[in-house]
Amino acid sequence: MLIAPSILSADFGKLNEEIDELNKTNCDYIHIDVMDGHFVPNLTFGKCVIEAVAKRSKKPLDIHLMVKNIDFFVDMMIELKPYSLSFHIEEEKHINKMIHKIKDNNTKAGIALNPHTSQDSLEYILRYIDFVLLMSVNPGFGGQNFISSTLEKAIRLKEMIEHNNLDCKISMDGGINNQNINMLKESGVDIAVAGNYIFKANNYQEAINSLR
Ligand code: DX5
Ligand code: ZN
Repeated sequence: MLIAPSILSADFGKLNEEIDELNKTNCDYIHIDVMDGHFVPNLTFGKCVIEAVAKRSKKPLDIHLMVKNIDFFVDMMIELKPYSLSFHIEEEKHINKMIHKIKDNNTKAGIALNPHTSQDSLEYILRYIDFVLLMSVNPGFGGQNFISSTLEKAIRLKEMIEHNNLDCKISMDGGINNQNINMLKESGVDIAVAGNYIFKANNYQEAINSLR
């Protein structure tokens, strides 16, 4: 299982130290939640802050856009050359165009699905994307309870991926801890995004070990 700590639950008053702590662990990515106060009722990081994180981080950055004006934010974020960038299917009409804009910049392109959005909405786009980000909480805040129907969605999505012989990873985001991560693995999830569980622990590496 690949592990992506979400810095939404980090202490923003000492962000550099928090990134240093993650650099010392064997986590695979650093997950960054960009929220615009419109798509979700919360506001987080803009380009300046993410630029500072990118400078400090030794880990690849996985940027998750929870925004309405996707085109604007994709243009802004691809300049930072993140490892991966995802946006929500619920908010974009020209998905194919957006995916190619991301991939043309040598960034992995992902589509995020809210808990109520079906995996079937991906039927004609799955072949073009590098990963799907399944939200297992309603996006907007860290520390929420895991929505278990997302596991059923992961199983169905995995079947679609394998049936079509695609190279597409499944990432899951929200409410993940050492009690439910086994079920993620059994459902075909490749990447676990965890905020609260890692940052509320005294030792980040130990929390990551218990997730693995
Ligand atoms: C929620 C964010 C998540 C969040 C997960 O909208 O997309 O990345 O940080 O945090 P936890 O693990 O606390 O649910
Ligand atoms: Zn996220």
